[in-house]
Formats: sequence, structure tokens, C-alpha cells
Amino acid sequence: MAPHLSPPDAADVEVDLELVDLLAARRRRHGAILRHGIAALYPAAAGALLATLDALLEQHAVRRPANLRARDVLREAEPDWFQQPDMVGYVMYGDRFADTLRGVGGHLDYLGELGVRYVHLMPLLRAREGESDGGYAVAAYDEVEPRLGTMADLAGLADALHDREMNLCIDLVVNHTAEEHPWAQAARAGDPRYRDFYFFFPDREMPDRYERTLREVFPTFAPGSFTWLDDAQRWVWTTFNEFQWDLNWSNPAVFAAMVEVMLHLSNQGVDVLRLDAVPFMWKREGTDCENLPEVHTLLCTLRALMAIASPATIFKAEAIVAPEELTAYVGAGSPERHECELAYHNQLMVLLWSSLATGEAKLMTTSLRRLPSIPSRASWVTYVRCHDDIGWAITDENAAAVGWDGWAHRDFLVDFYRGEFPLSFARGDVFQFNPETGDGRTSGSAASLCGIERALEAEDPVHLDIACRRLELVYAVAYSFGGVPLLYMGDELGVRNDASYLDDPALADDNRWMHRPRMDWSVAARRQVPGTLEARLFEMMAGLAGDRASVAALHGAARLEVLQPTDSHLFAFARHHPDRGRFTMVANFGNLTVVADTAGLGCSPGAAVRRTGAGATLEPGGVLTLPPLGYAWLVEP
Ligand code: GLC
Ligand code: GLC
Repeated sequence: MAPHLSPPDAADVEVDLELVDLLAARRRRHGAILRHGIAALYPAAAGALLATLDALLEQHAVRRPANLRARDVLREAEPDWFQQPDMVGYVMYGDRFADTLRGVGGHLDYLGELGVRYVHLMPLLRAREGESDGGYAVAAYDEVEPRLGTMADLAGLADALHDREMNLCIDLVVNHTAEEHPWAQAARAGDPRYRDFYFFFPDREMPDRYERTLREVFPTFAPGSFTWLDDAQRWVWTTFNEFQWDLNWSNPAVFAAMVEVMLHLSNQGVDVLRLDAVPFMWKREGTDCENLPEVHTLLCTLRALMAIASPATIFKAEAIVAPEELTAYVGAGSPERHECELAYHNQLMVLLWSSLATGEAKLMTTSLRRLPSIPSRASWVTYVRCHDDIGWAITDENAAAVGWDGWAHRDFLVDFYRGEFPLSFARGDVFQFNPETGDGRTSGSAASLCGIERALEAEDPVHLDIACRRLELVYAVAYSFGGVPLLYMGDELGVRNDASYLDDPALADDNRWMHRPRMDWSVAARRQVPGTLEARLFEMMAGLAGDRASVAALHGAARLEVLQPTDSHLFAFARHHPDRGRFTMVANFGNLTVVADTAGLGCSPGAAVRRTGAGATLEPGGVLTLPPLGYAWLVEP
């Protein structure tokens, strides 16, 4: 017996080691990025800021709960946890889904039925009263919206999710605060420390100069990017609504303040921070003040800090930007650079809707083939619909490459999805039409945009079936294209546009609310009634998740290859992984049956069907028959 192998106080020793040695090791690993980033962003204040950050890190390490410290170690052992094939996300407003955070905790079985392992709760920190841009105007980062519950409820929900192998994602609005936030109020009252937290101007000179090159995000309800404050006798920078004041990230104090917020949230057990509106975080005259290089330095630096302090927490970038700007947010173009682990694939989303409207996949194929690949340690979140409008981010260059006019095509999509184009199946609305640029965006739920609403109104079972096939087709792409697929609340039940927001004055002028309905649990109950629309769609979504989980090659690190089928109604891609085999998806967006040869798509004769839609079949010899809106998921060892 060797008693020294198991000293009585072994457990205490382990905890101490975790505090001291892991932090030191993480600092050695990520410290250079941190120091470099801080020196680049804040040359005059780097020393002082680093000292502040050091103190925050020490304090945080002591406060971090033991279960989360264990989670940190586990996640370092499994850094690809979010890339597993069984990772499927669900996006919801906590209050609209189940009134409160506790209510959400009571519906985890429902999410389990859908194969969900990642729950994104829309903004839940205390927002300003009245209009709050759906909670994106935060008045207190350290409080949960009282309607939803408390910080303790949030931590409790995180625990409950973790017990079920589910992960928690929440929004963190980093670009702006509500004008009611204490920082903004102090700034407004003239406190010099907080004046520098925002951008104030005594007259129109600078705002006019900036506006020469700025784009208006909300031209209809919040024109311009600056707001006049009578009491302070100043203009303040407001990219979004007048009550959302842009934070001045070139101020090191803003950086430190936001780090504190992030660390606090990570200590509640948050696994993914969705960083809202990141492209706008840095401003420079003469530019559009979006996607500036400093934004990327900021994100890399914040990421390094998180990797030191709370490696269990990762970042998701909300950067709904043009294709050439998009991939940098997940570190494309620089393999050493570690930026956000996740980012929204808005290109895929836009192109799916474009392909459904045109019955043609060539624009999608061409545009997606042009996107640079991303590092294997990062992934997309892929989605069909979200809480926002669809901004038709199709570039003139990509449209021209398939012989189309970019402007005319975007215009067509706006008309098509508001249901005002001959033969349109969609029912949606135009969001923020800008008469100066001719730009329009689209609101509407997935089911309504796919034609389910019209078919139900017309009591037309044939068109209802076709509309359901459309919905399945786009979700089948989102569930296999790569990364974490997101199911947007209600799509599993075919929830249609909801006009009730018009009755609420705080929501009425923002038609994005038409696709943010309340969950109707009596409708959800119909998922168990065979023959209903809800049963069909719910089973379809659960099946997609189950089949996805069974395909090893759908790991997020698998390389994506967008294929070029000879028939341009087909969209096809392969996912390759050296140890996990190959996955191929072929989808027919056209309205005629297409016969394709799997060898022509690079499949081996051993390719087997894992899933099909709309009656697609694979015959021996590799002949694939794809009816309109049909698709096949093929796997090879
Ligand atoms: C993000 C949100 C959007 C919000 C905007 C301003 O883009 O997704 O809903 O309006 O940020 O916070
Ligand atoms: C713009 C912004 C995007 C935001 C959206 C809200 O497209 O670029 O960040 O989500 O507006 O509607």
C-alpha cells in the first residue's frame, strides 16, 4: 500500500490546481493574442487596460462555479462539441414560447422530441420599457427581464439544459445600449467618463460627414444614424432606433465594461453568446462603418479573453452582411486567427428563398462556390428563417455571373415574397422599403413564405402538399449544409403570419412581429394527431434531426464542396471528412422531375440513401430520380 497516493485532502488540492495552473496555462496559450489585440486597438491605454483585465480575470476565476470550471475542462477536451452531427438548435422568445424562463424549463421534453441540443433564447436581459426593438435595447446587462424571471432562473435553466445535454445560447447586444441604460443616463447628464461611452456631437458637422457613406438600417422608422438630444444639446450616434445608442468601442473603458458583462453571463452557464450587430462596432469617417478591420481585432481579442476565463463559452457573430464580408467573422482567410466559433450563414438563407422563387439553383450554386471556405474549427449556423427580416444580400457580381441583373432580381424577390408577383405562392410583407436606394426586405414566417398559408386559405390539399415539400426542402439543406442548423420557433408546426402585433402600439410599426408569434400549445398538441399539418411537419423536423445525428460526415469540421450538377434546377453539395466518410445532398428546386447520375456528382457506387423527400428514389447503378422539390441525402463510408 502506498498511502501517499491518496492523501485525504486530494479533492482540495485538485481545486487549487484548477484555479492556479489552468489559468496560467490558458494565459500562456491565449495571452499573446490578447496583448497584441489590446495594443493594436488601444495603443495609448494598453498597459492600464491589461492590468484592469488581469484583475477581472483573477476575480472571475474565483467566482466561477465549480460545475462550470469542470465544464471548461471538458470543453477544452472536446473543442468540437458544437460541431457534432446531433447538434440542432431551436430559437425562441422565452416569453412567447412559455411566458417565463421557468416555463421554458417545463417544455424541455418538447424540444427533446425535436432532437434539439442548443436552445437560443432571444434577448432576455432587462430592456427599456415600451418599444425595445424586441429586447435589443438593453437597459441593464446584469438583470433579466422581470417578466421572464431572474438571473437565478437563468442559471437554473442553464443547469436544467446541461443535465439533458442541451446548451444555452443567449443574445448579448454589444453595439449599443438603450438610452435608459445607466451609462447612457450618466452620459446624458454630462458625466465625462460616460460621455466617452457613446458618440456625441455638438452640431451636424461630423454627423453629416459620416452620413455621406453610412447605410440606413431602418430607413422607415429610424431614418438617419444620429439623434438630436434636446436636453444635452447634442447629437448621439444611433445606427438602429433612436433609443439605441451606439457604444464607443474605441474607448478602453467600454471594452473593460463589456468584458465584465460577458464574464458575468458566462458564469450563469451560458454556452454561446450571440453577439448582436457586431459589424457596426467600429467607426471611421469615409467608410460605411461596417466590418472595419478593428471589428475583427476586437472579436479576436474578446475571444482570447473568453478562452482564458471561460472556455466553455463560445461566440456566435450576428453579421448579416455581404458575402465578401461574411466569412472573416469565422476566421476565414487566416488560419491562425481565431475569431467567432459560429456565424449566421445569411447567404445560404437568402439563396434558398431565391431558389424556391425561381425554381432554379444556378445562382445559389455560383454564389456559394465563390464563398471562401472557413477553418475547420469554426462553423456556420444555418437557418431558413429567424426573428429578423430577410435582407436580399445578393450581389450584382453574383447575379451577373449567372446572367441576371442584381437589382431586378432583388426587386423580383421582394415582390414575390410579398405575394404580389404572378404565380407567387408566398404571403409576406415588405420591411423597410428605402425609396432612395430601391432596397426592400421581407418579413413573413417560413410556412407563409412557402405557400402553406395560401393553400390552407384556399382549402387546396394539392398546393398544401407542395408547400410542405418546399418547407422540407429548405430545412433539409439547412440541416446538412454544415454547422449548427437552427429551427425557428413554430416552423415545426407550420405557424403562419400573425397580424396581432398591429394591436400593440409598441410593436405596430415593425412588421417583423408578424413572424414572431406566441406559441399556441393547443396547436402544438396536434403534432400527436395523425393526418394533421402539425403532425406532418413535426415528424419531418424530428426526422431531419434524427437522420442528421446518424451521419458521421455531418460533423461541422467536414469540408464542404458545392457541386455543379449539369441540370441547373439541381442544387448539390458534398461534405468530406477524412475519418467520417462523405455525405452528399442533391435537391431539385425545379418543377419537373430530374434524373441524375450519382457518379456524376462524385459519389462512389457504395453511396446509400439516408433520407429522401418528395418521393425521390435511388436505383442500383446510381440512378437518382428527383421529383419536383425532391431531395436525397446520400452517405458513403
Ligand atoms: C440585430 C437583431 C435585430 C435588431 C438589431 C439591432 O440585427 O437581430 O433584431 O433589430 O440587431 O439591435
Ligand atoms: C440589418 C443589419 C442586421 C440586422 C437587420 C435588422 O440588416 O445589418 O444586422 O439584423 O438589419 O433588421
